[in-house]
Amino acid sequence: MPSVFIKTYGCQMNERDSEAVAAQLVAKGYSLAKSEAAADVVLLNTCSVRDFAEQKAINKMKNVVGTARSEKRNQIVGFLGCMAQSRGRELIDKLPDVDLVLGTQKFHRAAEYLDELLAGKRKKIVDIETEAKSEATIREHLLNGSAKTSVSAFVSIMQGCNQHCTFCIVPATRGEERSRTIPDIVAECRELVARGVREITLLGQIVTSFGKRDYHELAGKSAFVQLLDAVHEIDGLERIRFTSPHPKGYGDDLVEAYARLPKLCESAHLPLQSGSDRILKLMHRGYTREKFLGIVEKLRRAKPGIGITTDIIAGFPGETEEDFELTLSLCHEAQFDNAYIFKYSQRRDTPAADMADQVPQAIREERNHRLLELVNEIAGRKYDGFIGRQVEILVEGPSKKNAARYTGRTRCNRIVLFDGSARHQGQLMDVKIERTGSFTLYGDPAILE
Ligand code: 5AD
Repeated sequence: MPSVFIKTYGCQMNERDSEAVAAQLVAKGYSLAKSEAAADVVLLNTCSVRDFAEQKAINKMKNVVGTARSEKRNQIVGFLGCMAQSRGRELIDKLPDVDLVLGTQKFHRAAEYLDELLAGKRKKIVDIETEAKSEATIREHLLNGSAKTSVSAFVSIMQGCNQHCTFCIVPATRGEERSRTIPDIVAECRELVARGVREITLLGQIVTSFGKRDYHELAGKSAFVQLLDAVHEIDGLERIRFTSPHPKGYGDDLVEAYARLPKLCESAHLPLQSGSDRILKLMHRGYTREKFLGIVEKLRRAKPGIGITTDIIAGFPGETEEDFELTLSLCHEAQFDNAYIFKYSQRRDTPAADMADQVPQAIREERNHRLLELVNEIAGRKYDGFIGRQVEILVEGPSKKNAARYTGRTRCNRIVLFDGSARHQGQLMDVKIERTGSFTLYGDPAILE
């Protein structure tokens, strides 16, 4: 049977989609290749959120087909996911060696299409149609395929986003919001736990909007909090996480859930994007600076020690130095535990791409740099605050960089490295933090008195 190599760009949703495609192919008898050179099929699961991510995948594809051609190897190659969805056939016009372009609602057809291509029944396949109920088709899991996934798994709960932030291509690549049902999600989680999973991350482009159209509020609880309650009841499950939420989804019901549900890890990703109300409005974010800071405060009150991370865009169209300084000052106030900073990137067919006052590239870079310095300094101080403390980690497996070290995560989602062995794998254990590295904590298995 043929072998397949899948490379993933972008977010955890993409990781999950790749995993489901890999599991689907393994179930059909494919093997997973260690590198693209050794594979009969190479699939690049792509990201469109910034131009840089698209260019990386396109260059990689050029490389893959160039090498295969020079070595006279017959390889089937394809683009999957977000860039496949937004660019479609254009990708084959640009790179005629590409055989398959598979959109975000069609991952479940990967095996069938590859069979046809490998058998020579079809020469090229482009499928980027929408498909009703495709939100429920990402089901297969590759447990034990990698160390990490056997203790910790991702479960897709919804697809798409209706928020229409003016900078964002996601509504075009992932479509309208569609949610799975609570019983369907709980059944998948139960099955994973029965197979040894102890931590589940619920995934979607805007998880806090889960089930809005399908479920009524119950006793003040949104559909998303009802889902958290249902997943929380699964015996044997130790930790629950979710991503990505929208700040406006942090109503009192969700904030209370952190205090009420012991399995819900004290970690929240709150994408800020900007600290200026004027820019937030232009971005169509649906909250103000004050509202955002209010959420941070509520969360820290409900769960002291909660890890709060964020995303920020530097150089959105029309952003003045004054607007940018408001973002800096918000970072001082919010004291994020970690922050991901992005230079604004014009995306096709998004309202912001056509806004006047595009910020010159050099200024985007300069602001990106200033913001990074600030958030990294704050994050570094927060990391240092862990030295000497004892924390609980869930051990995922050997570290990729150094197999003598094992890696786990704290409940507030920080990576911890320690000298471990196979017997630690999958364990919840306490470690004492001895020192910090860049975005990493180094621990020693704690001797409990
Ligand atoms: N340019 C730069 N960053 C962007 N993001 C989304 N769209 C863009 C864009 N056009 C960032 C946002 C989002 C994260 C996933 O990517 O900060 O939260």
